Amino acid sequence: MTRIAVLGSTNMDLVAYTARAPERGETVTGREFRTVPGGKGANQAVAAARAGGEVTMIGAVGDDAYGAQLRDGLEHAGVDTDLLHTAEGPSGTAHIVVDDSGSNAIVVIPGANGVVTALGPGEIAAIAAAELLLMQLELPLSAVVEGARAARSQGVRTILTPSPVQPLPDELLDHIDLLVPNEYEAAELSGQAEPHAAAQILLRQVPEVIITLGAKGCLYAARGGEPVLFAAPEVSAVDTTGAGDTFVGALAVALGEGRPVAKALAFASSAAALCVQKPGASTSMPYRSEIEADAV
Ligand code: RIB
Repeated sequence: MTRIAVLGSTNMDLVAYTARAPERGETVTGREFRTVPGGKGANQAVAAARAGGEVTMIGAVGDDAYGAQLRDGLEHAGVDTDLLHTAEGPSGTAHIVVDDSGSNAIVVIPGANGVVTALGPGEIAAIAAAELLLMQLELPLSAVVEGARAARSQGVRTILTPSPVQPLPDELLDHIDLLVPNEYEAAELSGQAEPHAAAQILLRQVPEVIITLGAKGCLYAARGGEPVLFAAPEVSAVDTTGAGDTFVGALAVALGEGRPVAKALAFASSAAALCVQKPGASTSMPYRSEIEADAV
């Protein structure tokens, strides 16, 4: 089994489903409300565990009712939560509007995620024991930098999802093996709207980039090679929340198993395509058997 450490956020997602998102200053009546365990870190952890990885989650939940539910959800998925600390105060929450096209808009309130500013010996040891470290940007940047540096010093492969997007310091990018932005994040980080052009800029700082393009698939680019566009399976999306996280979690498992990049991307794309066909983030992530039945 691929050993994966996830250094990241855990949020309770408060999701409003509505025909269309409100314009500025407008009130609309939605159709349904759900609370669903989420957070980019926890989503990647659940996706990786369901895809067949052995996963340790590093982060924090609050000491509220959401915190207990979030921990239970991770444990139920088989994720090791020994390094998921319980902090005083509220858990992280994400306030999400999903429209009838399955597209979303998200406001995250960090809550307990914000207390993870540094790593202790236990966290460093867990990273050193992993084959891959998955990170996003919903924890304080100081912890992400420390995690990336610890992983690199131990030869652990690092994958960063640069979301929510923000300027990335060299001290972080210098320790990243694979950057996985979506189209919007790639444009923000590179200053180039076109994905091929964005990838070329980003490759100056990291050796491999995958730009996820939603229904259009993804663009894989590595230093010294030609970028390759991989198509996504054609599906009807109900809710795209967590699709990028599912992609990364499944990709990490496949790469850790030594699959060639094209096969790993097919596995990850199938996982993400299965995710978007159900509502919610962690609740919609597929199991390995479902992915394998779908991936060709
Ligand atoms: O990537 C999707 C996730 O972003 C949601 O689960 C939400 O918690 C936000 O962190």
